[in-house]
Amino acid sequence: MARYGATPNNGVTRLALTDEDRDARNQLRTWFNEAGCETVVDRMGNMFFILPGRNRNLPAVMTGSHCDSQPQGGRFDGILGILAGLEVCRTLQDENMQLERDLIVVNWTNEEGSRFTPGTTGSGVFAGRLNREEMYSLTDRNGLTFGGELRRIGYMGETDFDPRPLHANFEYHIEQGPVLERSGNTIGVPKGIVCLRWYDVNLHGVPNHAGPTPMNERQDAVYAFACMAREIFQIGLNADEVVATVGEVHPTPNSRNVIAGHCRFTIDVRGWDETETDRVCADIKWAIAAMAKKTGCSADIRQTWAVERAPFHPDLVQLVHDSADRLKLPALDMVSGASHDTVYINQFTPSAMIFVPSIGGRSHAEIEETSWADCAAGADVLLHCILRTGNDPEAISYRKN
Ligand code: GLV
Ligand code: MN
Ligand code: MN
Repeated sequence: MARYGATPNNGVTRLALTDEDRDARNQLRTWFNEAGCETVVDRMGNMFFILPGRNRNLPAVMTGSHCDSQPQGGRFDGILGILAGLEVCRTLQDENMQLERDLIVVNWTNEEGSRFTPGTTGSGVFAGRLNREEMYSLTDRNGLTFGGELRRIGYMGETDFDPRPLHANFEYHIEQGPVLERSGNTIGVPKGIVCLRWYDVNLHGVPNHAGPTPMNERQDAVYAFACMAREIFQIGLNADEVVATVGEVHPTPNSRNVIAGHCRFTIDVRGWDETETDRVCADIKWAIAAMAKKTGCSADIRQTWAVERAPFHPDLVQLVHDSADRLKLPALDMVSGASHDTVYINQFTPSAMIFVPSIGGRSHAEIEETSWADCAAGADVLLHCILRTGNDPEAISYRKN
């Protein structure tokens, strides 16, 4: 899969709804068809690969993740979970085994949210938490719309697909942080996913010439941005297990001898504790107002996305643990600091995740790496979880969250 959107330094740039995304989707469709799956594409371009079970009236088991990437992103983020789902289907095929329940492996559209904001768009609409028409009208930096690009690459399905109720959902993913490697564990067992808040900030100063304009007569939007970015970093640093990131910055006109009259930047804030996360957001807003005043610029802040934290189903979390134990794989309880499509699926289906170590704790970068042995170990855990839940008789129901 890493061929689709390959970058010179061993990573991938496979942004949502680009030609690279389309080519990866076509490849997935071929492989899943060969593995005995039917493919359904819904109106958000979510691809559902369905391996029929013996009793098609029973609620299905779901797994999967996303095949889009960050710009200059890694080869594992997202796609590992889909390919492990494919490997489960192939293994069942090789062993001539059929599950009681349907197994649905999903490729969710636009998880990353880099080209089109917000992210987890496909799963968010599937969950009924994002509006499809609004998502169609999202634009990228070149003014191209989500809906137009989805149609252009040939992945706007004609109907919605609603396999609910679902019996269980597992998402297998790389950890994307340093915890597993540092602690010497192979399997991460998250109890849930942190909450998340995204903002766009627009700064307005006064554009002017870099030479003749006296330093004390400037309303420099880049200077205002720099003051704000520093404050945001410090607020994150001082917070209790909340992280704050300024990831994008777009000064206008972005010319070395012009004092910028405008600057847009983004903020990403996440934490397990919603109250502490909201306190951090409030402090950031206060700091932005203070820095705007100090620099003579004005600032508009707009929230572009907010998701509550996702505490996973305790029985399925335990099942991930038990599966790792059976396979004699050392496992660690943790929290997912990254967001995932399961943040939405968890709202209506018992869910859990399986993590494997990221070498050097690096992700969202070309250097992202996980050993093949660890990839296989996580896939084995996924297989065990699917064998168990996919063969659950109808009577078994899990405790409510
Ligand atoms: C997605 O990768 C995210 O956690 O932002
Ligand atoms: Mn991901
Ligand atoms: Mn990602």
